[in-house]
Amino acid sequence: MDKPTFTPAELAQIEAFCRKYPTRQSAVMPTLWLAQEKFGELSPPVLELVADTLGLPYAHVEGVATFYTMYLTKRKGQWLIEICTCFTCGECGGQELWAYAQEKYQLDKEGVTPDKTFWFREAECLGACDTAPVLQIEGRRMAFSVTPEKLDHILQRLRTGELPPFESVPIRNPEV
Ligand code: FES
Repeated sequence: MDKPTFTPAELAQIEAFCRKYPTRQSAVMPTLWLAQEKFGELSPPVLELVADTLGLPYAHVEGVATFYTMYLTKRKGQWLIEICTCFTCGECGGQELWAYAQEKYQLDKEGVTPDKTFWFREAECLGACDTAPVLQIEGRRMAFSVTPEKLDHILQRLRTGELPPFESVPIRNPEV
């Protein structure tokens, strides 16, 4: 594989990240996210690129990338689906949804489907407990009140490369 590089437009974007902070070190998180969106995963050559671009030690960049679960140092499936099985979601259908996904999609021990199209993980609270159970796709699109049927529909659309439409969290009127 060719050595990964950033385009001039991406480098300009990274410089814009750096200008927001007092040190270049502070721009490591948005730069890692940009790199992950572009390359799909943060493999060692990609981490090296980020470190070189920001003028940081490799170990510093790797430390950040391996600390936060939103960064993928090794992608195991084409689409990452995270089902929240934390307290509220777990009690409100998240555990059943996780069990359904495991069985219906024949997940292996790492949560990956046989064709490697989907990679499931359990998630800690995603901050939308009142719409439990919740799932997150690729760390950037959430789905609320997910039933097995809704999960099947989401996966069908992802197979054609289509992210489900943005759903806003319904805000309930406390007086009703
Ligand atoms: S417990 Fe699932 S979003 Fe909070």
